[in-house]
Amino acid sequence: MTQAALITGITGQDGAYLAQLLLKKGYAVSGVFPRRASDTLWRLRELGIERDVALIDGDVTDLSSLLRALRESKAGEVYNLAAQSFVGTAWKQPLLTGQVSGLGAANVLEAVRLTDPGIRFYQASTSEMFGLIQADRQDEGTPFYPRSPYGIAKLYAHWMTINYRESFDLHASTGILFNHESPLRGIEFVTRKVTDAAARIAQGKQKELRLGNIDAKRDWGYAGDYVDAMWRMLQQDKGDDYVVATGRTTTVREMCRIAFAHVGLAYEDHLVIDPKFLRPAEVDVLLGNPAKAQQKLGWTATTSLEQLITMMVDADMRRVAAEPSGTPAA
Ligand code: NAP
Ligand code: GDD
Repeated sequence: MTQAALITGITGQDGAYLAQLLLKKGYAVSGVFPRRASDTLWRLRELGIERDVALIDGDVTDLSSLLRALRESKAGEVYNLAAQSFVGTAWKQPLLTGQVSGLGAANVLEAVRLTDPGIRFYQASTSEMFGLIQADRQDEGTPFYPRSPYGIAKLYAHWMTINYRESFDLHASTGILFNHESPLRGIEFVTRKVTDAAARIAQGKQKELRLGNIDAKRDWGYAGDYVDAMWRMLQQDKGDDYVVATGRTTTVREMCRIAFAHVGLAYEDHLVIDPKFLRPAEVDVLLGNPAKAQQKLGWTATTSLEQLITMMVDADMRRVAAEPSGTPAA
């Protein structure tokens, strides 16, 4: 019998790659699709799978729509990826962030429990929960200290998932994923902002790149690798919690150097530090220890930061070159 999966956040970076992976594995894939005035299907279109997934009108803040989505999709696996996921916005819309990224997960868990507690559940937890880090390398046992309304909302969702596993014996897992990027990354996140700028500057369509804290360090991996870890978690006998990371951390500054060097430029010639992009509270450094995911899931990151960033710059070079002349920078 065909396996069926439901993805919330299917139009996001991870949702699109996960949908592609599950389709390749023969799943029937449905996605919860919130109404938006503008086009949000570009990622599914870029992957050529827009017509292969069933989009079901719904929103994670609306329990009734989730109950309907579960009934219509007949999903045996639910991946909760929906979130207000941009940390910078979380201070400007803290309540919305809490409702979507925190309570939204509780709604999906409730919908699963009420529909069929045998459904397997994945929660998109995050290294942002480590925030002000309490250990040099963060693993599943490292205490959390979130530094943003986003991290706090995600921590609520994380513990709700663990609580539903312990209270109702749900097959519920959390993936504590460190930053992962791709050519499908939203333009507001720093890697894509940098790779897009490198492409525009190389093609004479932009002059400078304005950034905030370039000394911040992140453990960056490739989103295409990370969605495979999500799927592997739901194939285990029991739900559990896993850190997914590369085990290498790099400054924003060095990531800029890699991106600009790929198109023959020096980032220092174009970079302007703009306090507008500093955050009220910063996560200075993240570095994950993915040993458990390696041992239990047989998962390892296969894409280096250099491969990732050059892949993103190449994609942006093609996009920028294909734009009609006069298109403004994002
Ligand atoms: P993303 O590109 O920002 O995608 C977020 C998705 O959530 C979009 O499809 C968005 O739909 C959807 N969404 C927003 N509000 C919704 C609502 N009220 N109801 C239903 N859907 C809603 O994020 P991502 O990078 O793919 O990340 C996927 C998940 O992993 C997120 O939960 C994120 O917090 C988490 N995470 C990401 C990373 C990372 O480095 N990428 C690391 C750790 C954890 P619209 O496009 O229509 O708004
Ligand atoms: N976005 C952005 N824009 N970040 C900047 C800029 C800028 O102009 N200048 C410096 N940075 C720094 C941020 O201050 C942060 O320290 C770092 O670059 C990474 O920022 P983002 O790419 O926005 O990612 P994030 O680490 O805040 O959050 C992402 O990763 C989390 C996992 O750790 C998001 O994908 C979250 O949803 C995810 O949970």
